[in-house]
Amino acid sequence: MPHLPAAFPATRFRRLRRTGALRDLVQEVRLSPADLIWPIFVTDVPGADAPVASMPGVSRLTVDGAVRAAEQAASLGIPAICLFPYTDPSLKTETCQEAWNPENLSNRATRAIKAAVPGIAVMTDVALDPYNALGHDGLVRDGVVLNDESVEALVRMALAQAEAGADILGPSDMMDGRIGAMRSALEAAGHRDVAILSYAAKYASAFYGPFRDAVGASGALKGDKKTYQMNPGNRDEALRLVARDLDEGADMVMIKPGMPYLDICARVKDAFGVPTFAYQVSGEYAMLKGAMLNGWLKDEVILESLLAFRRAGCDGILTYFAPDAARLLRG
Ligand code: PBG
Repeated sequence: MPHLPAAFPATRFRRLRRTGALRDLVQEVRLSPADLIWPIFVTDVPGADAPVASMPGVSRLTVDGAVRAAEQAASLGIPAICLFPYTDPSLKTETCQEAWNPENLSNRATRAIKAAVPGIAVMTDVALDPYNALGHDGLVRDGVVLNDESVEALVRMALAQAEAGADILGPSDMMDGRIGAMRSALEAAGHRDVAILSYAAKYASAFYGPFRDAVGASGALKGDKKTYQMNPGNRDEALRLVARDLDEGADMVMIKPGMPYLDICARVKDAFGVPTFAYQVSGEYAMLKGAMLNGWLKDEVILESLLAFRRAGCDGILTYFAPDAARLLRG
């Protein structure tokens, strides 16, 4: 409980707001480039390494471009980069086998980055949507997204990513039981130190729209993801999912989307006290960036929006603003 203030004028809150020095001295929560994970889109499809229309300022990168991004991250003090592949449409199938190809785009990019910039942590995405002709995160039979069969595929995918040198696996698929299955497969294969950052509380959100354009999944997806991603009307379920994923072997947990779900971030951190991350997703980026480009908002909203995650209790944030934010933080 905060100490109750003495009556005015013994207490004047403005005394500690008078100068920058005093404000700095009593600031409760801070943001640093070290709190950021930078998601990037990688492609080897000729001509696809181009700007993403619904995410102004974000382009898909070639593998070489991803290596340069990792170098940039390292020089800005950003500790981790997260890879999302834009897969050649001809490699997308209903069985999704490209997902566990040791030589797939994501695995090649991971190897290239780890070879060139070993100090950067590489996070990879474990979900089938970039490889699925039907656009879903899991395998589909007769219009139903299968759970246990999808988990088997996701485990294969996770092992291939660990083999390629990923430091952090990010299962974003929301199938039940995947964390436990991945953790035991990783242990059995000798990948004891590969961390799992579970997308534990991932909501079925319209804020993912621009991302689906960026990875080329928008066209394929029929229907929605509501049978596996969370209902935005739920909050206790988020705590149960976090508890479940920690119990199955997640090292860190994520809440996604970010800004509209800060209440969930705060509850998760308060309840569990584990490394907690939020994803400021593509639609949040598009809203802020679109308003900035129109001159409706100043770029100060970047750091303010990220500080909000820290205030809600998050240890770190996945954000497309990572390099801009790091530059702003470094003055
Ligand atoms: C899919 C995935 C999505 C995002 C990350 N992984 C989209 C979805 O679930 O449809 C969204 C990220 C963003 O919007 O920035 N596995």
